[in-house]
Amino acid sequence: MRILITGTGGLLGSNLALEAASNHTVFGVDRSCPQKTTAFTPLVADLLDPGAVESILDDTQPDWVIHCAAQANVDACEHDPENARELNTELPRKLARHVARGGARLLHVSTDAVFDGHKDEYTEDDLPNPVNVYAQTKLAGENAVLEAAPDAIVARINIFGWSPTGKRSLAEFFFNNLAAGNQIKGFTDVFFCPVLVNDIADLFYQMLAKGLRGLYHVVSSENVSKYDFGIAIARKFDFDPELITPISVTQAGLQAVRSPNLTLQVDKLINDLGVVPPALSPGIERFYTLYQQDYPQVVRSLCLE
Ligand SMILES: NC(=O)c1ccc[n+]([C@@H]2O[C@H](COP(=O)([O-])OP(=O)(O)OC[C@H]3O[C@@H](n4cnc5c(N)ncnc54)[C@H](OP(=O)(O)O)[C@@H]3O)[C@@H](O)[C@H]2O)c1
Repeated sequence: MRILITGTGGLLGSNLALEAASNHTVFGVDRSCPQKTTAFTPLVADLLDPGAVESILDDTQPDWVIHCAAQANVDACEHDPENARELNTELPRKLARHVARGGARLLHVSTDAVFDGHKDEYTEDDLPNPVNVYAQTKLAGENAVLEAAPDAIVARINIFGWSPTGKRSLAEFFFNNLAAGNQIKGFTDVFFCPVLVNDIADLFYQMLAKGLRGLYHVVSSENVSKYDFGIAIARKFDFDPELITPISVTQAGLQAVRSPNLTLQVDKLINDLGVVPPALSPGIERFYTLYQQDYPQVVRSLCLE
């Protein structure tokens, strides 16, 4: 397949591109990361520029587009809601229209954060209730995509992994600070279902191969608090778990409100794909194995000048 991935300078896009490179013809586009790689064809463009979406689709002629580029910084969205709307709602709408017109298919990446987090767990049929600007603009992006391209896949995810900046994911936050011996805090009252980006890549490419369409929760089959996630990283890498102080998110002084429980059911994905997404412990095991194999350097080298 010919696959165009947007946001290949980011946590998800970079890993999706590297994982697909051996089996597919991959084009990766990003606006700020001058990628030096032979694994895939890197393109530099700001997708908000007039004509950029059209010319990249014309030049690459993809079978599938995986749209990862976004404003994914929750507090930055709160600070600049108009930019968040442009990137998280209007860009996916435009991409979906053009992809559908050209006969390709779109996998649009969304977030678990569309829910308010006051239920025990959420299915795809539950009504979203976003609690911050990031989540509002991402939900509007989902709706815009499915309206413009009804055969698109919209995947609500939560992820961790090794990123080009070395500090994009929560796992890297814990790893970097624990390695430096810094005392840090972990929320005991915020739950999520993170999947390693390399495992998400396996799931996504199986979803494309099977030709799925519509809304899917693509998260881990197991939930965990952010504090316990940090403890799991500490134990796996043999760092001191006592460096992580358990606190409530209400004590953290964050700018944007966060949903306390983002436990998403994955039954629809399991039924339609025939695959169970990994639980936390195999994900952390693979995160560690990648580290032993110097994979973090491979990802980081993508965005070095
Ligand atoms: N990270 C998570 O835990 C998480 C959780 C749930 C859902 N998601 C979703 O997963 C997707 C990927 O997230 P991520 O964490 O990989 O994000 P990320 O690390 O911030 O990467 C996004 C990349 O897209 C680029 N980009 C943004 N606007 C662009 C534009 N106009 N043209 C070209 N490139 C552009 C960014 O460049 P700049 O650096 O210049 O902005 C960045 O390199 C997003 O849709 C996000 O909402 C992420």
